[in-house]
Amino acid sequence: MDDLRGVRVLLGVSGGIAAYKAALLARLLVGAGAEVDPVLTAGARRFLGAATLEGITGRHVREDVWDGIAQDTHVALGRAADVAIVYPATAHTLARLAHGLADDLLTTTLLAATCPLIVCPAMHTEMWEHPATQANVEVLRGRGVTVLGPAVGPLMGGDAGPGRVVEPDEAHAAVRAAATSTRSDGPLAGRHVVVTAGGTREAIDPVRFLGNRSSGRMGFALAAVAAGRGARVTLIAAPSELPTPEGVRRVDVVSARDMHAAVHEVLDEADVVVKAAAVADFRPASAAASKLKKADGTPAIELVANPDILAELGAQRGSDDTPVLVGFAAETDDVEANGRAKLAAKGADVLVVNDVASSDAGFEVETNRVVILERDGARTDVPLASKADVAARILDVVGHRLTALDAHHGGSSG
Ligand code: PMT
Repeated sequence: MDDLRGVRVLLGVSGGIAAYKAALLARLLVGAGAEVDPVLTAGARRFLGAATLEGITGRHVREDVWDGIAQDTHVALGRAADVAIVYPATAHTLARLAHGLADDLLTTTLLAATCPLIVCPAMHTEMWEHPATQANVEVLRGRGVTVLGPAVGPLMGGDAGPGRVVEPDEAHAAVRAAATSTRSDGPLAGRHVVVTAGGTREAIDPVRFLGNRSSGRMGFALAAVAAGRGARVTLIAAPSELPTPEGVRRVDVVSARDMHAAVHEVLDEADVVVKAAAVADFRPASAAASKLKKADGTPAIELVANPDILAELGAQRGSDDTPVLVGFAAETDDVEANGRAKLAAKGADVLVVNDVASSDAGFEVETNRVVILERDGARTDVPLASKADVAARILDVVGHRLTALDAHHGGSSG
């Protein structure tokens, strides 16, 4: 019950009828051991009494940017927070956050916060679906903010639809997950996590190659989140413009065979291998030494199979089930059946199936929508979120598997 002991949570409340639920969330957080600093907007104060939150949290409720000038209150609470959550988040507050406005205590505080931020939208359906709100939400997601909800159900005034704030226990779980992700004593701390990312290139001649649309975003996000959780990360990257995440060792490769060699170079020390790369299954049997010329006619390019790196790791793994193997797959239909077949064929522990049927998930884009399938039958659906958030959910699953392996082997290898 005290899984948030020592965690300081900034609880921002903005002005909607759902503000009353912030009191329930505060109670859950305090019950789990968190220190909760509530900050109310002017609108929230019309729906929820500060005295209620003060009674639950045992802390002075900040409401005014002019309150405590000498103590730098407008930035101090943000700097001190381990996790920040805005519950509920109105359309207006989402817009202010997206645009970096600093016109009250909540927004100045959040501008000063570098910790994970969760926002829980609550508003009428038309307001949620308005392109302006959707654009603001996209900006926030792109910045790594977790957008939780809205839920679908009854709304104020007899309306119904998407726009309800998520229930307090769901918000509590998100705070717990964010707090775990920032703790350096979690299951990934000290582990060696190998991540492959991007699309391999198979040379046809010195200037042409067979490639694919992978940008590397998903793999780079996994590397960044794993490093943030205290893992030692080796990122084996096919050509990508993306900057190397902080604290990550990057090994640049070009072809599937380069990637194969680079993975085997670090395999002995790996606790986890995550294969987010889109690896070419085939390569030209031989690359021409000089540029193929149009004048020489249309070339016939013979293809040969590349090594299947993941399947090989799955087949070679010893009986101790290490390293933990995570594969990816891109599917458009029958996600569960196709994913489960690939999970078994590759001998992986976890298979992350991207829903690539829509334009906001899978290759190139900043967001993803996945189903995480585990060898023992477990399934976790991750709705549309930033690739950083999706990475966090995948690494939660990996963390559980590492903890279970430790329990099985009677100790940590970390
Ligand atoms: O890079 P982004 O633009 O962010 O896009 C992310 C992504 C869509 C590329 C990523 O999330 C993803 O799904 N990667 C796997 C793509 C894929 O379709 O893989 P596959 O079905 O070809 O292979 C399945 C698994 O086997 C993958 O883990 C792959 O890395 C691995 N594999 C495949 C072929 C091969 N020769 N060796 C392998 O290890």
